[in-house]
Amino acid sequence: MSEVSERVLSSKVSDYVGKKVTLKGWVNIRRDHGKLIFFDLRDKDGLVQVVVIPSSSGKAYEAAQDIRPEYVVQVLGKVNRRPEGTINKALASGTVEVEAEAIKVLSASDTPPIDVTTDGLEIGEDLRLKYRFLDLRRSRMQDNIRKRHKIIKEIRDFLDKEGFIEVETPILTKSTPEGARDYIVPSRLEKGKFYALPQSPQQYKQLLMVAGVEKYFQIARCFRDEDTRSDRQPEFTQLDLEISFVQREDVMEINEKLLIYLVKTLYPDKKIQKIPFPKLSFKEAVEKYGSDRPDLREDKDDPNLLAFCWIIDFPFFEKTEEGGWTFTHNPFSAPEPKYMEMLMKKENVGEIIASQYDIVLNGFEIGGGSIRNHRPEALEKVFEVMGYDKKTINENFGHMLRAFSYGAPPHGGIAWGLDRLIAVLQSQETIREVIPFAKTGEGRDLMMESPSIVSDKQLRELGLKIGK
Ligand code: AMO
Repeated sequence: MSEVSERVLSSKVSDYVGKKVTLKGWVNIRRDHGKLIFFDLRDKDGLVQVVVIPSSSGKAYEAAQDIRPEYVVQVLGKVNRRPEGTINKALASGTVEVEAEAIKVLSASDTPPIDVTTDGLEIGEDLRLKYRFLDLRRSRMQDNIRKRHKIIKEIRDFLDKEGFIEVETPILTKSTPEGARDYIVPSRLEKGKFYALPQSPQQYKQLLMVAGVEKYFQIARCFRDEDTRSDRQPEFTQLDLEISFVQREDVMEINEKLLIYLVKTLYPDKKIQKIPFPKLSFKEAVEKYGSDRPDLREDKDDPNLLAFCWIIDFPFFEKTEEGGWTFTHNPFSAPEPKYMEMLMKKENVGEIIASQYDIVLNGFEIGGGSIRNHRPEALEKVFEVMGYDKKTINENFGHMLRAFSYGAPPHGGIAWGLDRLIAVLQSQETIREVIPFAKTGEGRDLMMESPSIVSDKQLRELGLKIGK
């Protein structure tokens, strides 16, 4: 009998009927049927059934007595067609089983604290997060991380073909008042000064437009120190993009094309309710649906229905509690062209409409962006409306105004909350299910046990003292 000595994956075993193969993987479930021992061997592609018969394989039978769930084993065995009636159509290897001749334990396992053979939703989430390296072994989580990879790969391929380049931007950056609370990082060399982790690559991507890149994207990690919810994490991932010489409709069009492409390529069973995506003004959405992220699905019981829509025409400014004005989305947005004069004169600012657009899917805001103020005097006006004095504007945004004074192209862009999009496409309840190493609602990493204290020496080096 021919022997295949290199490893064969579970998904390919059925190509080797009548041959001897070597398998490597984890013991999923072991079942003793009187004298026969069965177990499912699990590898990155799925499961394959192994049968151990006492008579034909003495050594293998002895070894099989000792193996337990989650042991890592190597099996040498013969691939047999399964008897009619025992075929398992749900498995790629479901037409065959492997009759073991030799079993070698490559690594033993303590009794797992969580069951990895179910979908895991019956297990407390804290325990799943603490043992995430086990939790990720379950097929639902494997599917989530593998699909996440595919989505990101298709995004990269699509945008590359469209002439975009991916550019990395710094993680150690500057704290500026931009929306959420910053995570800050103390500087050792300049005591008393701090970096901030980026809430988004917003300023860098605009500076890349000034730098002549024209079509930028990045799969970018973002950090926001805000209370987490089922669709929020302290660190999350954006598909961030920015384009020069475009108008609002151009940005919306390419994003719509990319979303449709992703669904058609990777989720052929899913149906997009309406193409082109409906566009609603902020006012219409709130009046008709009571929300600026309406769930427009005609049938909410259908897990395969995707209802995308665009929300446009947001008010630029809203009143603060103190009676001043603040931006509703992004201080870098431009007003819609016909409102530019109002901004420059700082008249009726409550009526100014921003060139902002949000993309909504099944009731989740999965992205947002705008056309920007590329003229420094217009950007400066936004900060003035917000009540910033010249000194504050200069300290916080001087670099942007300076850059825009050297020939900034008109530009605009968007960022998708990639975790949210993937969670909806994968029909998952929370974004934590599609983030491999997610944090708890309190922002803790239960596996690494972070945040954690640091040594007095580290604090001294940074010139920091912990207050009571
Ligand atoms: P915005 O702040 O709207 O825009 O963020 C874009 C998208 O990111 C997602 N998102 C989050 N996802 C998970 N956890 C969070 N804490 C979280 N916060 C936001 C949302 C949101 O729509 N720089 C601008 C984009 C631009 O104007 O180009 C920005 O970051 O899905």
